[in-house]
Amino acid sequence: MNIKDLVRPEVLNLPTINAPEVSEGMIRMNANESPASPWKKSNTIPLNRYPPIRPNSLTKKMAQFYRVSKNEILVSRGSTEAVDTIIRTFCRPNIDSILVSPPTFDMYQFFANLNSVAFEQVPLRLENNFALKIEDLTNAITKKTKLIFISTPNSPCGSSTTNEDIRLILEATKNSALVVVDEAYIEFSSLSSMINEINNYKNLIVLRTLSKAFSLAGARCGSMIASAEVINFLKKISPPFSFSTPAINHIEKVLSSNDLDANNQQIKKIIAEREQLKQNLSNLLCVNKVWQSDGNFLLVKFYSNDVVLNMLRKHHILVGQIKNNKVLENCLRITIGTPEENSALIEALSLIDF
Ligand SMILES: Cc1ncc(COP(=O)(O)O)c(C=O)c1O
Repeated sequence: MNIKDLVRPEVLNLPTINAPEVSEGMIRMNANESPASPWKKSNTIPLNRYPPIRPNSLTKKMAQFYRVSKNEILVSRGSTEAVDTIIRTFCRPNIDSILVSPPTFDMYQFFANLNSVAFEQVPLRLENNFALKIEDLTNAITKKTKLIFISTPNSPCGSSTTNEDIRLILEATKNSALVVVDEAYIEFSSLSSMINEINNYKNLIVLRTLSKAFSLAGARCGSMIASAEVINFLKKISPPFSFSTPAINHIEKVLSSNDLDANNQQIKKIIAEREQLKQNLSNLLCVNKVWQSDGNFLLVKFYSNDVVLNMLRKHHILVGQIKNNKVLENCLRITIGTPEENSALIEALSLIDF
């Protein structure tokens, strides 16, 4: 299959917006910026200049971080933006469709709707602990299916899809569609990344984010990782000047620091806390079921969400609500906090008696 055949015709001939990086010491009279920053008393760094059109130095850093070459990666403002970029690159409005297995990350549906792209669903099965059944998915592929989104580990369920199963989907679609593997939570699981497969499957795009395990949600940095050919097409859609200078500086500094070990320790602690919290929740009278999770959260079924939410509100604790999903009635998604926060949650829930 030729990837070119899957790209929206309008995108094929779009020029890629790009520009050489500005070197230090050049007189910049080309971009209608302010020549100086008057905000001296605010004690902030001057931001009168635009950031680079493409965050090239950040891209280089992220490529090293994920061990790919710099033409196999495109950074985005979080993987949320990446979902939109991918849909707009490949899906023709009112013609193509994406295939998704809910309950899952709701931005796949949001951006499909926004772009007038049909949203086909193969629900995950409760009786299968929300693990993806590959035949269910492959049987649902039609001529219209351009993209398949697989979140693994999946939010809000916490279940994972094995690399072997993803390879089966990639094989089944290699002449017709792209498979987007969203690995937002992979650092909290024992799965190995599908990044290693981008050279074996032209129809694979892997999504990664710094928002979860790398504690950088506020910086907004996601990555699309795929063959250079796919990345070239995605680049055409990616907006110019989108990374702000403070975000670029912050991420580059953090990733070059000696704190990566500390971050890895924190990931380990969150995993240990997840298992402890799962155990503690399972012992509570108000809890019906806690699913096993490979993410930094737990999916919990209560006997009554209303009672639980009322109690948590009184204790100023927020948890993730899952709307419009019959299968997950009375379920809440609880993010793993610090040991103190997790204890506060258990304490508040222990006050509920049935
Ligand atoms: C499965 C999944 N993918 C992607 C994201 C988006 O992450 P971000 O846009 O912060 O990179 C989330 C956020 O909760 C998520 O749950």
